[in-house]
Amino acid sequence: MARTIAVTGSASGIGAALAGQLREQGDRVIGIDLRDADVRADLSVPEGRASAVAATLEEAGGRLDAVVACAGVSDFTIMPVKVNFFGVVGLLEGLRPALAAAEAPRAAVVGSISGTHPVDDDTVRACLDGDEPAAIAAATKVEESGAGGRLYPSSKSALAQWMRRVCVTPEWAGAGIPLNAIAPGVVKTPMSAPLFEDEGMLQIMKEAVPMPLNGFAGPEVIADALRWLVSPANTHMTGQVIYLDGGAEATLRGPADF
Ligand code: NAI
Repeated sequence: MARTIAVTGSASGIGAALAGQLREQGDRVIGIDLRDADVRADLSVPEGRASAVAATLEEAGGRLDAVVACAGVSDFTIMPVKVNFFGVVGLLEGLRPALAAAEAPRAAVVGSISGTHPVDDDTVRACLDGDEPAAIAAATKVEESGAGGRLYPSSKSALAQWMRRVCVTPEWAGAGIPLNAIAPGVVKTPMSAPLFEDEGMLQIMKEAVPMPLNGFAGPEVIADALRWLVSPANTHMTGQVIYLDGGAEATLRGPADF
């Protein structure tokens, strides 16, 4: 039976691949993005999230079978904290009641292998406290100190921790909603394209994210797994960060740490 599925970041990369696959299998997709989407909204700010939630609920008629949060940014500014953490959490919390009204509701987010890299503890703590002004203040300090490279990992680590905390609560597990994350290594999308254009960056990336199994992935690889996570077949998996990374996480953390 056709399901109605909201996908953020549907205009590009992983979100676009997923939206295409879902439409191909007969589902109805409500795409949410800054541009080229059914719902155009800026998920970096509270007003944008509120308008995205309202417009998605209206499009869906108050009932959603699944939500997949793919939208993200990966620069060295405070933006990853605003989009990758608060943008995802705000949207999922806003749409959760519409999920709870569905027969087989599912939710998934896109994390990253970067969530295992060094983070800024103050930023992560403020994210987990749900305190966006404090998180932005902490992240601004990090950005200004020249350590902005920690903010993307911080946003993805906080997202994974938030997910593991809420997935077993009455609001999620109790309402029958599995909530999981796919954490990719390096995926060939417009986000990673600049890295491939610079031989020096490519070498740094190969060392930071070693992928002995089949190398860099295409976006359809990540979309395939997200599609299963939000399918009715996933009745019992929740709170999992699934590293879909060509072996990067196993290489970096080793056999004992998982
Ligand atoms: P992409 O850049 O191709 O697509 C991201 C989409 O998010 C774009 O359509 C963009 O417009 C949208 N977006 C960005 N900021 C937004 C905002 N404020 N409001 C609404 N929409 C916004 O990137 P890609 O590679 O498809 O990334 C998807 C997810 O995968 C992201 O969460 C990213 O962090 C994650 N990821 C990507 C990896 C890669 O190597 N490409 C590796 C690991 C994780």
